[in-house]
Amino acid sequence: ALISMRQMLDHAAEYGYGIPAFNVNNLEQMRAIMEAADKTDSPVIVQASAGARKYAGAPFLRHLILAAIEEFPHIPVVMHQDHGTSPAICQRSIQLGFSSVMMDGSLAEDGKTPTDYAYNVRVTKTVVDLAHACGVSVEGEIGCLGSLETGQAGEEDGVGAEGVLDHSQLLTSVEEAASFVADTGVDALAIAIGTSHGAYKFTRPPTGDILAIDRIKEIHARIPNTHLVMHGSSSVPQDWLAIINEHGGDIKETYGVPVEQIVEAIRHGVRKVNIDTDLRLASTGAIRRFLAENPAEFDPRKYFAKTITAMRDICIARYEAFGAAGNA
Ligand code: G3H
Ligand code: 13P
Ligand code: NA
Ligand code: ZN
Repeated sequence: ALISMRQMLDHAAEYGYGIPAFNVNNLEQMRAIMEAADKTDSPVIVQASAGARKYAGAPFLRHLILAAIEEFPHIPVVMHQDHGTSPAICQRSIQLGFSSVMMDGSLAEDGKTPTDYAYNVRVTKTVVDLAHACGVSVEGEIGCLGSLETGQAGEEDGVGAEGVLDHSQLLTSVEEAASFVADTGVDALAIAIGTSHGAYKFTRPPTGDILAIDRIKEIHARIPNTHLVMHGSSSVPQDWLAIINEHGGDIKETYGVPVEQIVEAIRHGVRKVNIDTDLRLASTGAIRRFLAENPAEFDPRKYFAKTITAMRDICIARYEAFGAAGNA
């Protein structure tokens, strides 16, 4: 059944678990996520990015998700719009039937330029008023995502172009988070605590303090009724990197957020954990390996089936590690 994100995350908060929010662009990802959720009895958050809407088209994505709900009626599903850059975009998703939208007012409509607090409050509050009138949940974002190791914002937040940021710029301030929630009424809040989007998060194997766990604790204590969201939460599996590079790929050395550190973040208040890159890597590795080993094969279903299995195994591992398993 389609449910709001508020309803799903309230349950996660009550029982102290986290929910992976997987990006979806195609049929194979949708199947992988649902088969994993079915197998582990987990609730599902699927999110469509601007890139996904451009690739598949919003109606196709919507119907993929509706098809998933039809085939797996016993699993609660949140249909979430990832990183909306304007109230108009969020309004369109609400009209299409999404049960949750992210208004990312921390960046301008170009999806790159950092904005000021007043702008962020204004656009986010506009979306909250609209969405709540329709029973739709809203995720906001305050702060500037970026790796605590490299000081770089990563591929999507674009701020990296302006150079390296220091620690204070890369962590959401407790005061700002509290006033932002009071000023907007968001259901969920994405905070900057040391992660960045994409595959290139850390240049060395990350150590225990790569996430600002203390900051998560402080923010959670201050706004306990707002569900915290961690973007850029891919773990960048080293086995899949190796498979890609062994079969003609060329991805340089890179590391993601270790699963144990995500689990620690969940222990301190993170409820929604955004994952896209890990499924991209698994999918690419599975196709490269299959085609290298079966050079005469040309039925796309053969290699797409391998991507489903590869992605499904990662989804299962995350549902189990985050404690979502058994909570559908
Ligand atoms: O937030 C970023 C997600 O990884 C989606 O990226 O816009 O390339 O689909 P995308
Ligand atoms: P990753 O790039 O770490 O998978 O993060 C995805 C994300 O935050 C989508 O909003
Ligand atoms: Na931001
Ligand atoms: Zn994100």
